[in-house]
Formats: sequence, structure tokens, C-alpha cells
Amino acid sequence: MNEERLEAGFLGAGNMGQALIAGLVRSGVQPEAIGFAEPDADRAAAVRARFPGLVLLAPRQLARRVRTLVLAVKPQILPELALDLTAEVASADPLVISVAAGIGTERLGDWLGPQTRIVRAMPNTPALIGAGITGLYASPLATDADRKTADRLLGAVGATVWLEDEERMHAVTATSGSGPAYVFLLIEAMTRAAQRLGLDEATARQLTLATIGGATRLAQESDTDPGELRARVTSPGGTTERAIRVFETSGFAELVAEAMEAAAARSRELGG
Ligand SMILES: NC(=O)c1ccc[n+]([C@@H]2O[C@H](COP(=O)([O-])OP(=O)(O)OC[C@H]3O[C@@H](n4cnc5c(N)ncnc54)[C@H](OP(=O)(O)O)[C@@H]3O)[C@@H](O)[C@H]2O)c1
Repeated sequence: MNEERLEAGFLGAGNMGQALIAGLVRSGVQPEAIGFAEPDADRAAAVRARFPGLVLLAPRQLARRVRTLVLAVKPQILPELALDLTAEVASADPLVISVAAGIGTERLGDWLGPQTRIVRAMPNTPALIGAGITGLYASPLATDADRKTADRLLGAVGATVWLEDEERMHAVTATSGSGPAYVFLLIEAMTRAAQRLGLDEATARQLTLATIGGATRLAQESDTDPGELRARVTSPGGTTERAIRVFETSGFAELVAEAMEAAAARSRELGG
């Protein structure tokens, strides 16, 4: 029972779990201070090969031994797993950080116990390369130190934004959580259209990616509003104006709003 407490433990070491482990290791935490639970032996071996020294534990042992327990399994299997950890969480009292989409802190508290200090996080896939952005919400029981811990953990894979109203998590999910897929869709569509205009696939992709990356950086680094940046490249009677008119008459902005409302509605459904 006197085993040393581990810094953090990951229940689920899939895409998101491994991205966060990589961030922690990059930020200087020793793999020997990080635990993980993974039922599939091959997958567990692959994770340990990537992070030599990482400590493989059964879920209950993990919950008992860590200061911070990160829930990074699919939302569908979380209730069963969480209900199985109630006793361990009550006695070891770790900070619990959940990245599971849609599941609110109240439900997590129902499963893990009412005294649990919980931070909910919504990261996105660019976290895999340290370029993510995460929306964070702390339940009322979480302390300032807990917020700092969560900020450090998620901050190791990108930027962080704190919300004071948990309801806004649905909007974050619809914006940055699902957002990378919208951008990939645009990349696919622009690349295909460029090919239809006669470019080979490699050139079409190179031009598209550099344009989206460059325009994003310009918008980030400029004090000018994106609408104004757009106006500046849209000379009257020019090529850009012609293209923008097609987007506008086809209801592009309304379509984006509709898609994001659908994502937020689905997030609410997942939350039950
Ligand atoms: N990917 C994203 O962009 C993103 C963004 C925001 C939030 N999230 C959230 O992050 C969570 C994980 O997503 P993901 O994309 O990383 O999924 P994933 O790659 O499927 O990872 C889930 C991991 O949990 C493992 N697991 C399953 N049952 C387990 C158990 N009983 N004990 C311990 N580990 C178990 C899985 O192992 P097996 O493969 O062996 O079953 C897998 O390694 C989800 O709740 C998701 O909502 C993801």
C-alpha cells in the first residue's frame, strides 16, 4: 500500500491518450512516473515500446496509485469502467481529467463519487503533433492547483481555453473538437477541384495545404479582422470576387452554421 504515487495515469492509451503521454514526456515528466491501463496485450506492448519505462497497471491499481487520473477511453465504455473505480477514487482521491466527448462532470461524479475533483477537457487531433487546442472546464470541487495541473497536462499538446460554464463545452466540441475534420474536408475539396482544373495531385495538394496553412498564420499574426483580410484579396471584378460570389450565393456561411449546430446537438445527445 506504500507504493509511490505516480504523477499521472491514463485509462486508455489510444490516439488521445498517447498524444497526452507524449506531451508529458516532452515536458520533462519521466515515463516511470506515468501509468497506463490497456486491456490488449499487443497494444500495451506497443505503447511501452514507444515510451520505455511507462508503468502498465490494471484500472483499479492505476486509480489507486496516481495523483491525476486521465480518462481517455471511448465515451461508450466509460460508464462501466468508471463505476468499477468508485472505491479506489474515493480512497486515493486523484484529480480526474476526462477527455471523453459529451460526458458532463455531473455524470462523471455520479459514477466516480460526489467528492471527486473533476476537470473536463475537449482536445482535438492536432494535439498529436503538439498543435492542438483544448477547451477545459473544472467542476466546483476542483482546486486552483487542479486547474494548474490540467492546464499543464493539456498545455503540453497545444493551447488551452478555460470555460466557466460547462454548457459551452458543446460549442467547443462543435468548433475545435470536430473542427479539424471540417478543414480536412476543405483540403480534400480544394485538392480535387484543383485537379479538375488540370493540376496533378501532388501539386494540387501542395498548393492547397500551403494556402490553408499560410492564410491561417496570416490571420493569426495579423491584427486585421479575417473579413478585412478577405476584402483585401478580393479586388472588384477579379477572380477571387467571382469565386466568393459563388460561395455566398450558395449559402456557405449558413451551411457551416448548420453543420456546427448539428455537431453541438450530437454532443448534447451523447451527454444524455
Ligand atoms: N481523437 C480525438 O480527436 C478526440 C478529441 C477529443 C476527445 N477525444 C476523446 O478521447 C477519448 C479517446 O479517444 P481516442 O480517439 O484516443 O480513442 P482510441 O484511439 O480508441 O483510444 C481508446 C483506448 O482505450 C483503450 N481501452 C478500451 N477499453 C479499455 C479498458 N477497459 N481499460 C483501459 N483501456 C481501454 C482502447 O484499447 P483497445 O483499442 O485495445 O480497445 C484504446 O487504446 C474518447 O473519449 C474521445 O471522445 C478524442
